[in-house]
Amino acid sequence: ETLIELSKKMPKTELHLHIEGTFEPEQMFAIAQRNQVELKYHTVEALKAAYQFTNLQDFLDLYYQGMSVLLHEADFYDLTMAYLSKVHSENVVHVEIFFDPQGHLSRGVPFDTQINGIYNALKDAETKWGMTFKLIMSFLRHLSEESAFETLELSKPFLPLIDGVGLDSSEVGHPPEKFLRVFEACKDLGLKVTAHAGEEGPPEYVWQAIDQIGVDRIDHGNRALEDDQLIEEIKKRGLTLTVCPLSNLKLCVVNDMKDHPIKTMLKRGLNATVNSDDPAYFGGYMADNYASLITHTGISKEELLQLAQNGITGSWMENNLKEKHL
Ligand code: HPA
Ligand code: ZN
Repeated sequence: ETLIELSKKMPKTELHLHIEGTFEPEQMFAIAQRNQVELKYHTVEALKAAYQFTNLQDFLDLYYQGMSVLLHEADFYDLTMAYLSKVHSENVVHVEIFFDPQGHLSRGVPFDTQINGIYNALKDAETKWGMTFKLIMSFLRHLSEESAFETLELSKPFLPLIDGVGLDSSEVGHPPEKFLRVFEACKDLGLKVTAHAGEEGPPEYVWQAIDQIGVDRIDHGNRALEDDQLIEEIKKRGLTLTVCPLSNLKLCVVNDMKDHPIKTMLKRGLNATVNSDDPAYFGGYMADNYASLITHTGISKEELLQLAQNGITGSWMENNLKEKHL
């Protein structure tokens, strides 16, 4: 059995996935047409040709444009179901999905339209395939604390459907501490907490996520490797890093897949996992992320199995379900 075959058949989890980042150009044009919305790019080819990013912001500009065609509950359902079908075929057994309510509220799409579409697809995938899930509401960090509080308020009728909160969008200049009070309120409501930190931002932002926010997990975390003391703190707290190899390559967080630090993370004893972030924009889903690591980093069978196991232990699934998967 080759490592590629092993990576395909082993049960996998996805812990870092923005549902709006699964919007494939073909589906984007189909939904744009049915909603009579015009896109800035006029063909699938022209849109795909624009997917050349030198940093996070380049990508975010297109990501917010792309999601702007999502208007109705059926759009959110179709988007989510297309993603779930895709990763079901790759042996993904559990997903923890981010959505960006502010990216839709700002365009007049109500909270219930978004969450009902996404949640119904997750429920249907659970019924059909036994795929389990968590739903994470993410705050856009380039917006204000006040906007995050307003979003939290709008989410309150739907809290039974929401497992945790996250922090995404433009990192540099928007440190975790900007949202300290929002996250305190979220924790008081019993929500789990994660935050993107150390993707482009400095180790200091990872420290803030841990020390000030008290995150349950760290999304990306690449730049934590620059600070030995920080590495020790992450290990001491047993925090999982949701690492996204193809995302890191496309956004120039790493310059070459052969230099990807995921093996270093494992060697340093960090609980790294493999995730796809925004697969429609970054060139691949879960299987492609593993395949790229296998092809370019010389990762071993033991390391592959460790990454998959970290995905189970670092997930927010119930303990009895974790045991079933381990
Ligand atoms: N980083 C920050 N914000 C994001 C990302 C990411 O990788 N994907 C979608 N929003
Ligand atoms: Zn992300």
